[in-house]
Amino acid sequence: MADIYTSHDDENIVEQVKTYGFRTPKAPKYRVLRLALAKSLSMETPPDDDLDTLIGEGKEYSLEQVTGYGKSEDNSVLDYDDAVRAILSVYHNEDLFNSDVLYKKLLQRHIRRGLREIRTSWNRSHSFINWLREELILQSPLDNESTDKNTVTQENLEAALKEIGLTVQIKEIKQGIRLNKYALYLANIHHLDVLKKGLGKLSFRLGVPDDSVTLEIGSEAGIANLYIPRAPEFWRIVSSQRLHEWAATGRTEKLPVWLGCTIMGDDFSMDLAEAPHVLIAGATGSGKTVCLHSMLCSLLHTLTPSQVQFALIDTKGTEFSLYEKLPNLCGEKIARNILESSEILNALVDEMERRNQRFVQLGVRNYEEASMKTSLPRIVAVVEELADLLLQSRDLETPLVRLAQKARSTGIHLILATQRPDAATFSGLLRSNIPVRIALRVQKHTESNIILDQKGAESLLGKGDMLVKLTDRPDPIRLHGAKLTDDDIAQAISHYCQ
Ligand SMILES: Nc1ncnc2c1ncn2[C@@H]1O[C@H](COP(=O)(O)OP(=O)(O)OP(=O)(O)O)[C@@H](O)[C@H]1O
Ligand SMILES: [Mg+2]
Repeated sequence: MADIYTSHDDENIVEQVKTYGFRTPKAPKYRVLRLALAKSLSMETPPDDDLDTLIGEGKEYSLEQVTGYGKSEDNSVLDYDDAVRAILSVYHNEDLFNSDVLYKKLLQRHIRRGLREIRTSWNRSHSFINWLREELILQSPLDNESTDKNTVTQENLEAALKEIGLTVQIKEIKQGIRLNKYALYLANIHHLDVLKKGLGKLSFRLGVPDDSVTLEIGSEAGIANLYIPRAPEFWRIVSSQRLHEWAATGRTEKLPVWLGCTIMGDDFSMDLAEAPHVLIAGATGSGKTVCLHSMLCSLLHTLTPSQVQFALIDTKGTEFSLYEKLPNLCGEKIARNILESSEILNALVDEMERRNQRFVQLGVRNYEEASMKTSLPRIVAVVEELADLLLQSRDLETPLVRLAQKARSTGIHLILATQRPDAATFSGLLRSNIPVRIALRVQKHTESNIILDQKGAESLLGKGDMLVKLTDRPDPIRLHGAKLTDDDIAQAISHYCQ
């Protein structure tokens, strides 16, 4: 008789780990279940009881497979059912030696949560061994040694500060997603200037990337916060689970977009309708496409086809292929070459004019007023590589500029991504009409200047580390994006299509 049941989605990830993670497709499936159990047990909060609901046909497993139950008579090493029962009993504060039913139920919940975690933070193009290392070893709260190595110690920082001429009190050390925050008390106001000037030297002395130590004036008098990055193997992964949880909170924005977590791990989102257009720029591999996925998946998780529609242009690659399944793409396909891009952009300009004429007939001034009288989806147009598009056809700048100047009031919004944030790609009228800017890591501070009107993006850590400049805040805010997988995108699309 079976003891543990899985769903269709669970089995899907089990197959993927076996095939692409272990690279030994013949390995027994229960090995993946055991790793999933370990992952779930490394989390502090108990798994939700909604994991008891199984959607889609999966598989059945016996306790013998999962915990080696019953193998003790022949070989005591193989049966660790008692050990698992003991761990779960302590974790849940229940005596699971006296309740088989509850034991199996909790075991199944943990395994299913572990599988869901694998699904959200690993994908088959990444090393599964690295995933295990990051998720099970480095993040384990019991692993004190790596936590120590992970942090610039108080003594090291004090010694480095002394070298730049400062003797200050370190009030607090906190671990963020990729950076640690050190709250320093500066007794003398002139120490602030010394600290500002000495940041480069501190990076050098502490052995962290050039200029990666940053400073923020704290909210309490006399406190300055230093942010110092950890080595990449000690970063916490921001998984798509964060986006799902944010989306489930019932968003009230017109176009809700989740961009990632702040340095200390809080969710950060914005309303694209207020933006009203966004530029995303950064060097190759900095995380632009992943950031675009995160924006699109936010909209797909929170809105319906009658509320938002998409126009997608990707002349460079096949990054948007999964979105081909969307039921109401403008032009009914993703634009993959200049001709198709030109058709879509000109069709969007026509749609903008049509909407304006309709607004006149309805006696309204803009999209907000019109949407009270008639149903009209907002349109989000995404260009995956602006520089590539304009390099192939400079003429396309004309419809883009017209949309950037006038489309907002008709409910049409642009998200433009580019690898080359040079003046030729992002100049003049386009620049002045795209107020929200997202800078991922760039090579030079001059590129940072073009995107944000200030330097800083050249010191980012890459892989979804970003500075976001909004219209209502003077300083850019630093965020770390989530690593979304193909499964996450497929899930978002099916949510939108429901
Ligand atoms: N938020 C993130 N967290 C962790 N890793 C990330 C994140 N964003 C991106 N990465 C990693 O960086 C890689 C490159 O990201 P992405 O493809 O988005 O870069 P890109 O800027 O679009 O590059 P290109 O200009 O070459 O298209 C991803 O495959 C992933 O491994
Ligand atoms: Mg890309």
